[in-house]
Amino acid sequence: MPALIARPRHLARISALLRQFPVVALLGARQVGKTTLARQVMATRRGPTTVFDLESSEDLARLADPLLALRRTTGLVVIDEVQRLPELFHTLRVLVDEPGHRRRFLLLGSASPELLRQGSETLAGRIAYHEIEGFGLDEVGSDRLGRRWLRGGFPRAFLARSEGESVRWREEFVRTFLERDIPQFGLNIPAPALRRFWSMLAHYHAQTWNGSELARAFGVAHTTVQRYLDLLTNTLMVRQLQPWHANLSKRQIRSPKVYLRDSGLLHTLLGVHSQPALEGHPKVGASWEGLGVDIVLDHLGARPGEAYFWGTQAGAELDLLVVRGRTRIGFEFKRTSAPAITPSMRIALSDLALQRLYVVHGGQHAFALADRIDAVPLAQVLERVRPLR
Ligand SMILES: Nc1ncnc2c1ncn2[C@@H]1O[C@H](COP(=O)(O)OP(=O)(O)O)[C@@H](O)[C@H]1O
Ligand SMILES: [Mg+2]
Repeated sequence: MPALIARPRHLARISALLRQFPVVALLGARQVGKTTLARQVMATRRGPTTVFDLESSEDLARLADPLLALRRTTGLVVIDEVQRLPELFHTLRVLVDEPGHRRRFLLLGSASPELLRQGSETLAGRIAYHEIEGFGLDEVGSDRLGRRWLRGGFPRAFLARSEGESVRWREEFVRTFLERDIPQFGLNIPAPALRRFWSMLAHYHAQTWNGSELARAFGVAHTTVQRYLDLLTNTLMVRQLQPWHANLSKRQIRSPKVYLRDSGLLHTLLGVHSQPALEGHPKVGASWEGLGVDIVLDHLGARPGEAYFWGTQAGAELDLLVVRGRTRIGFEFKRTSAPAITPSMRIALSDLALQRLYVVHGGQHAFALADRIDAVPLAQVLERVRPLR
């Protein structure tokens, strides 16, 4: 068993949330490292811990009468793959509302809060969410940015002993996801159709969503492609950046921008299996932009609903706008080593009233481009951009 890569930022966050909330949901794509993190959380706690894995028939049997079974527990209770038994949320609600209740529940789920909506509503005010992605740059080290880009952030893909092993792991992941995981979410979509859609979406990576164009290319109804997109979004495979609407008279773009979240899976679906192939691929710039968005959002600690993009019909645009309270920070992603200032950057800075605009680039050096506009290498984002507070 190779050594684990430490994830102290996530561990600290989960522990802090467990001090504040009776129920904490740790959400992330399949295979991203949730169960491993939960084990580490358990190891740091002094009191008793109990685990129920809802993918194990034995554990499901132990939960045949959930109220009875969970009332017997004390301390920390981990419920893994919670999306398998959404009815459980009602039981949790009963338990955490009982006077004198002191248990803590850590729920692990492979789907977004939207897919667990029932749960979110039942437990409103009692539950906090923490989403994890693949390995962040702080976890792998900035010197391994190149590998993180090519292979993506899934632990097994990133840590594979060879390029070939990583490629095979990702191909197997896609297959299992389509053939086993999707049906288990209770979603009835034929695997071949969804695979075709996912591959096609890879070619639209980092573009604004055009449902009718995709539907035409795919030969199905507009509503069908929308359903496929929502499915991949809710299972945390796809990120949709919603358009920001500034309070302006300018006409602004209204469709979301769509990214495959993991660069490694993007490359698998594009059939890109090596660094030279990636460098020569028409989607190389889009792939790099997606990596940048992923790494910046992870580093900032941005939560869903805090990240946008912005564009006007006249052509001004901003790749990423992060909004929390009064904080507004913009990011442009340029794979060149010597980015220059553009009129669009100045327009974004003033129209969106940004505190700062970072031009994240592929070079080696950080430098100021203008007042409040800084050029920062992607590999130096950790040192030069402050996480949100
Ligand atoms: N921090 C880590 N360092 C090294 N390998 C990891 C780490 N986290 C997860 N893995 C490996 O990745 C795979 C998936 O991890 P797991 O925790 O089971 O993911 P999930 O519960 O999200 O599906 C496992 O083989 C696990 O050993
Ligand atoms: Mg797991």
